Amino acid sequence: MRTPIPDYLDELMRDCAGTRGGNVADYIPELSKVDPSLLSVAVCATNGHVYSVGDDTAKFTIQSMSKPFVYAAALEEHGLKRVLEVVDVEPSGEAFNELSLDDETGRPLNPMINAGAIAVNQLINGEESPVPERVDYILDFFSRFAGRELTINHTVADSELEHVDRNLSLAHMLRSYDVIQDDAQDAVRGYVEQCSIEVDVRDLAVMAATLANGGVQPVTGERIISASVARQVQAVMASAGMYDAAGRWMTTVGIPAKSGVSGGMLGTLPGQLGLATFSPPLDGKGNSVAGARIFRRLSQDMGLHLM
Ligand code: DON
Repeated sequence: MRTPIPDYLDELMRDCAGTRGGNVADYIPELSKVDPSLLSVAVCATNGHVYSVGDDTAKFTIQSMSKPFVYAAALEEHGLKRVLEVVDVEPSGEAFNELSLDDETGRPLNPMINAGAIAVNQLINGEESPVPERVDYILDFFSRFAGRELTINHTVADSELEHVDRNLSLAHMLRSYDVIQDDAQDAVRGYVEQCSIEVDVRDLAVMAATLANGGVQPVTGERIISASVARQVQAVMASAGMYDAAGRWMTTVGIPAKSGVSGGMLGTLPGQLGLATFSPPLDGKGNSVAGARIFRRLSQDMGLHLM
């Protein structure tokens, strides 16, 4: 006997399986090898029930969906005041890999764009941590969110590091404004390895549900971050998680969300749900085409729009 949620998710996935358009990211060569037809959806309720359909065991790198969680780690470790000295909370309205710095302070406009995430990465594990220890700290932190031991896909990380001029240039600019002190290569390595942590769609839904649940992992019951940090992170996701598509996303879908160039997308419904999708083809702004369609449907069918 099936419960209504899996039946609904099955129907939703079947309806969206034929979604056309979009291209798999190829600026990280290793990502272009993925099967573009992979598709999965997962939902985790704040009571810890997880439902998933489709290719829900397919692993992919977390990419930019790491940014809210590393921001959370920095807020937990240093408090909002210190983190705000490094990165602001304003939407940039620009693409994820634009510099988008505040004119006066040189701070990146928010932690969801690459410049902001590179700046936040170096706050982790003490501000002068060697990169491997910093990355271990992040891996352990993410594993607590997922409720299982995650690993890094070094093949993807190395592939990105061979084509990383754009992020290196962001790191050099951040150094020139004294926002980061790391050597640019180190700053980018720490950030790229954080992006290369491997997850599946169920991990993402549980991680998102931990944010939605005010910082308590709904399956293990562990409090990982404070309620105020969970709120801060979701508020920034709401205004900046979808980059230059953030305004349209918030008006049409109305769910704080974060996308990644691997094709994953996660969303949070505070107090209720963590949502996640995986489908590799991306639109021009780097967001999964089928993932966005599934989120739109979920929002409409289940009345999830926050407004
Ligand atoms: O820095 C990059 O370009 C990638 N590691 C992550 C970018 C990303 O996921 C943007 N999101 N849609």
